[in-house]
Amino acid sequence: MQIWPHKHIHTLANFSIEDYKSVFELANRFDALKNAGTKKIPALQGTLVTSLFFEASTRTKNSFELAAKRLSADIQTFAPASSSLTKGETIIDTAITYSAMGADTLVIRHSSSYITFEIAKKLDAINSRTSILNAGDGSHSHPSQGLLDIYTLIKFFSKKSLNPEVLNSKNILIIGDVDHSRVARSNIWALSAFGADITLCGPKTLIPDQFTNFLKTPVPNQAEDPVKSRGSITISRSLEESIKIADAVIVLRLQKERMMENLLSNINSYSLDYGLTLDKLTLNSKEIPILHPGPINRGIEISSEVVDKYPNCLINNQVANGIPIRMALLYLLQKYNEQI
Ligand code: CP
Repeated sequence: MQIWPHKHIHTLANFSIEDYKSVFELANRFDALKNAGTKKIPALQGTLVTSLFFEASTRTKNSFELAAKRLSADIQTFAPASSSLTKGETIIDTAITYSAMGADTLVIRHSSSYITFEIAKKLDAINSRTSILNAGDGSHSHPSQGLLDIYTLIKFFSKKSLNPEVLNSKNILIIGDVDHSRVARSNIWALSAFGADITLCGPKTLIPDQFTNFLKTPVPNQAEDPVKSRGSITISRSLEESIKIADAVIVLRLQKERMMENLLSNINSYSLDYGLTLDKLTLNSKEIPILHPGPINRGIEISSEVVDKYPNCLINNQVANGIPIRMALLYLLQKYNEQI
């Protein structure tokens, strides 16, 4: 396995194929250990993981905390409502404070896009050793979710041993609110790195035409793309058409909390056109895998029947896979810190 090259994890835009493979191989090893009955290992004993969630979370927060516990790290949890944020302390000063307490990794979720870059820059400027792990920033990036989604698909398609190349030329359909979705952006970086062709399906208000240029748009703080050749992005306005040729589907939550204007005239008509139902799935001749990052809006972007009855609905697999993926990320950041 390569020497891990990133002190901080903000985005998948700067992940090389080797980076992805390091994460997936390690996650697979942690998974195998758990399946053999070893849930907890002393790999990060004596280290401190601090979770700074300024925005609500069920899956990401708890699975990062569980991942840290499974690696025997100490875990410190920040609660914004009872913290000195309420006295006017800034987010940056909060992060500096936890770094001064000895945090090896700060796992950060916040509603502002790119804020983890700002925090990391400040910490690096004061020679802090603390790593930053982005757990979702605004609509920009959610790298651990992107990794666990792609890991879930690779596990599904791999015949025997885990093989990321199985994604090459697969048509992956992402349905819904792409414009507000940090998950969609992270999925697009990861899927395209392994040669998957991505179809984005939804109305213009949620998927503007310029999304076809997403992978060619310059990325802040990055000179060049570490991945030489990527899969394509196509936009479709018809779910009935795009589902016919899909090899897998990722359904996105309608993110009403991030919609600054009324982008949908009618939620019912959105559900009729773009909500995933068992009927729409019959348009595809295969039993394709269905993913959703959660939390789900039942009956809006996905029907309860698909969630509860469709055999290849992998939502719970995604949640379970989040733990070994996050164990791998925490472990790799610690290894980076030990080598400098
Ligand atoms: N998928 C996801 O980020 O879920 P949470 O908001 O519950 O963490």
